[in-house]
Amino acid sequence: MAPHKIILDCDPGVDDAIAILLALASPQEIELLGITTVAGNVPLENTARNARRICTLAGRQDIPVYAGCSRPMLEAEGRRSKVHGNDGLGNVTLPEPDFALQEEHAVDYLIRAIHAASGEITLCPIGPMTNIALAIVKDPSIAPKIKQLVFMGGAAFCPGNSSPVAEFNIYVDPWAAHVVLSAGIPQVMFGLDVTLQAKINSNYLDALQQVSPLLASATAMMRSYGASDPCLHDPCVIAWLIEPSLFSGVEGDISVSYHDDIHRGQTVVAVKPRHLADNQTNITVMTEVDKPRLLKMLAERLSRL
Ligand code: BDR
Ligand code: CA
Repeated sequence: MAPHKIILDCDPGVDDAIAILLALASPQEIELLGITTVAGNVPLENTARNARRICTLAGRQDIPVYAGCSRPMLEAEGRRSKVHGNDGLGNVTLPEPDFALQEEHAVDYLIRAIHAASGEITLCPIGPMTNIALAIVKDPSIAPKIKQLVFMGGAAFCPGNSSPVAEFNIYVDPWAAHVVLSAGIPQVMFGLDVTLQAKINSNYLDALQQVSPLLASATAMMRSYGASDPCLHDPCVIAWLIEPSLFSGVEGDISVSYHDDIHRGQTVVAVKPRHLADNQTNITVMTEVDKPRLLKMLAERLSRL
C-alpha cells in the first residue's frame, strides 16, 4: 500500500500538469485519491478541463476530478497567470477529456473524503487555497483530521513573482491562505525559496522528449512555459513525498499578510532560533533542493508512464 494518500488541489497550469503526471507515475509511494480544481492560473472551466486532459493523456480516467471555487474569497474576479498560455497548458495539442467531471463540488468532496479517512490524507494545494479554506470554514472539524498539508506557495526569504513580496498562489487568494495556514494543520511549504532552484533547460527536455508520445506532449508544455528555463514549482511537492531526502529546510512560524496593500500575499516566516530548540513551530519551510537528483528522479518516473 502506498504510504501517502493524497488529494491534489490544483489549477493546471503546466507545472500542475507535471505534478499530476509525477503522482500518477509513482503508485508505490502515492495513492492519488482525487483531484480538486480551482480558479488560478486560468479560470475554473479551464482548470477542470485541463486536469481531465492530463488524466486522459496518461490513460487514468479512473481518477475522480472535482471542480471547486471559481473566484477567491474576497474578490469577484481572480488574477490570472500569463505564463501558461490561453488554455493553461501552453496551447499544446492534447486529447480532450473522455470522462466526466464529478458532480459533487470540490469543497464537499474534501470534507467527505477527510472524514472518511480521518488522519490519513495529505492535502497538496498547488494553486490558490480557496477550496481548502472554504472546506475548513464550512466544517472546521476537518482540520485536525488532515494528516498534513504539503503546498506550493509563498516566498519566505526571497522576492515574490506576483509582487515584490508575494508569490502567485498566495497573492491570488491571501484570505484563503490565511485561513488554511492558521488552522493548526502540520504543514510543509515549497515556496519560491526552493522551487526557483528547480529549473530545467532545453537539453534536459530534448532527451525527455524522445522517450514516448506522452513525454513529447509533456515536454512541449514545459517548453511553452515561463521564461527560457522553466521552473518545476508544483512537482516539488510530489517529489518530496516520494523522496524527502531531496529537500532540506528550516522550522518556523508563518503568517500571511491578507490586506490588499503592498504586503498582500506576503508569507512572513519567523525561523526558530537554535537556542529555542524545544519551541513548537507551525511550519517546515523548504529552502534547498538537490537539483541533479530531483531532475533524474523526475525523468525516471515520467518515463514509466
Ligand atoms: C505557482 O504559480 C503558478 O503559476 C504555478 O502553477 C505555481 O503553482 C508558482 O508561483
Ligand atoms: Ca499551480
